[in-house]
Amino acid sequence: MRKLLVLSSFALMASSFCLLRAQEASETRSVWDGVYTEEQAKRGEEVYRKECAACHGDMLTGGESAPPLTGGAFQANWNGLTLGDLFDRIRKTMPLSKPGRLTRQQDAEVLAFMLSINKFPAGKTELYRQSEMLKEIRFETKKPAKN
Ligand code: HEC
Repeated sequence: MRKLLVLSSFALMASSFCLLRAQEASETRSVWDGVYTEEQAKRGEEVYRKECAACHGDMLTGGESAPPLTGGAFQANWNGLTLGDLFDRIRKTMPLSKPGRLTRQQDAEVLAFMLSINKFPAGKTELYRQSEMLKEIRFETKKPAKN
């Protein structure tokens, strides 16, 4: 009986340790980890030119009434939030003239393009199209020191 108790508490400890590690891993993913591909950003550039540039400017530096989508002020707005938040913001409110017009795929492509212009590195896998998964990638203005 005693042995069983020791064994099961050990199993409990081991599993909670695994859980903790899994949580840590997802929490440490950020825009610095190569979360989109160059190809995807290229496709996103086309979408951006058609759907967003008229207001936000060719170089994403903003227009008469629309704010920039690159640079210090933009990054400060999103620092510490997640790509899921930014994705939802685009999905639900942009393009301003007709929100929700783009497909999830197009939204992800535009977001990839925005990341490339903001100088976050490209990687080997495409950016997700699901908000829940994008919520696991943090928007961090500064590159984390340990990478
Ligand atoms: C008709 C003009 C217009 C178009 C087209 C447009 N936007 Fe916007 N966008 C705005 C305005 C104005 C704001 C600020 C006010 C607001 O949020 O409603 C804004 C805000 C934003 C923000 C928030 C910026 C921040 O710093 O928080 C993002 C992100 C964004 N737009 C992305 C996009 C994307 C991506 C597209 C193309 C799919 C797009 N917009 C198309 C006018 C536009």
